Amino acid sequence: MITLARRPVRIRILCEIMATKPPTTYWDYIRVEDLLNLQGGLDKDETTLEDEELVFITVHQVFELWFKLVRHDMLAARDLFVLPKVSEQDLSRVVARLRRITTIFKIGAHHFELVETIGTREYLAFRNKLMPASGFQSAQMRQIEVLFGLNDDERVALGSPGSHIAALKNADGSPSSALKRLRETQADGPSLRDAVRSWLERTPIDGVRHGDSGASKISEDFLDDFLASQRNEVDKARKRAREVAPESDHKRIDNLYDREIASTEEFLRGTDVKDDPQRARARVAMLFIETYRELPLLAWPREVLASLIEVEQAFLIYRQRHARMVERVIGRRVGTGGSSGVDYLDKTAIEYRIFRDLWTIRTLLLRNEAAPSLKGAAFYSFSAGD
Ligand code: HEM
Repeated sequence: MITLARRPVRIRILCEIMATKPPTTYWDYIRVEDLLNLQGGLDKDETTLEDEELVFITVHQVFELWFKLVRHDMLAARDLFVLPKVSEQDLSRVVARLRRITTIFKIGAHHFELVETIGTREYLAFRNKLMPASGFQSAQMRQIEVLFGLNDDERVALGSPGSHIAALKNADGSPSSALKRLRETQADGPSLRDAVRSWLERTPIDGVRHGDSGASKISEDFLDDFLASQRNEVDKARKRAREVAPESDHKRIDNLYDREIASTEEFLRGTDVKDDPQRARARVAMLFIETYRELPLLAWPREVLASLIEVEQAFLIYRQRHARMVERVIGRRVGTGGSSGVDYLDKTAIEYRIFRDLWTIRTLLLRNEAAPSLKGAAFYSFSAGD
């Protein structure tokens, strides 16, 4: 048997530390006592709370913890995208992070059921205590939106523009610690949306890398072929629609399908984003990845696109679910934060879209047989990748 004195130095030190340090306990590690002392509200005293107030405070705190995890995973995903070269392995890590965020939003949406167990009159018993506090002052929610890529000019104003910043100021007008955190997030590097765009911009189209000679021409050719196939498909649908419709309706039908063709071309050629060539190129990349998603080297990129849609969908449903809970508990009255209440919340659930272009691509995709045949397929096989 090896005596303590004969063990290698490092093991000996470890044994000595373990001998002096008390064994880890669950309550110390999780900080349970600290956690359980945080639900006392403004008076820091649970005995002063109204009947249902403990539920209200606890659920909000749980949400803020979920928001913290969302921020953590979103930053990790963003940081992987900003690398000059994003490997397949990195993409799988990004997908894992995004899928966890999706899970958090789904779980969060369920938590609103718990808030619905608070009756309207029970909530009204302590609602006045909150005024003018509101979830509108959740800086973490704003940090998440900024990390996602929501710009200030895309926000639904609660009163005047910039109200989300004003709400984070102290009563004397000085910036709160929450506002400082938000400012730090705004200053810290690209949003997930911008990082994804710069990654997408580099996607090789028809086997030719962005920046290689002839890359723009190849990309144009791909678009020309795709648009021709799309026109063909739309015309087939138009023909079917006209066959079953009365003649008086043909003009309306033609207008609809003409519009579909025109808006597809406008979107893919980037006519609406002329001052943002990166965004235009990213659209082509999304279309390419989605169209040839079965190719081995497009397997992870396509999962990334799928997980971006999933996370945004979960976020939108979360917003919707909050609005329905609010309608159920307080009806359509004015919010404690001063908004129109449910109307304001519904607007955010409809208008806030981060990956708008990715959603639009869904409108343009073609069935497999109708898609233009791929050039440079060998580039996307496993052996060809570098
Ligand atoms: C009875 C419960 C609740 C009611 C009646 C309620 C009501 C409202 C209302 C009316 C607003 C709009 C801003 C305002 O005028 O105040 C709002 C915003 C917000 N609430 Fe709630 N809420 C409740 C529970 C929760 C919970 C549990 C959370 C979880 C974190 C939450 C998070 C938020 C957030 C983040 C916003 C800002 C939304 C945005 O500006 O996009 N709320 N809430």
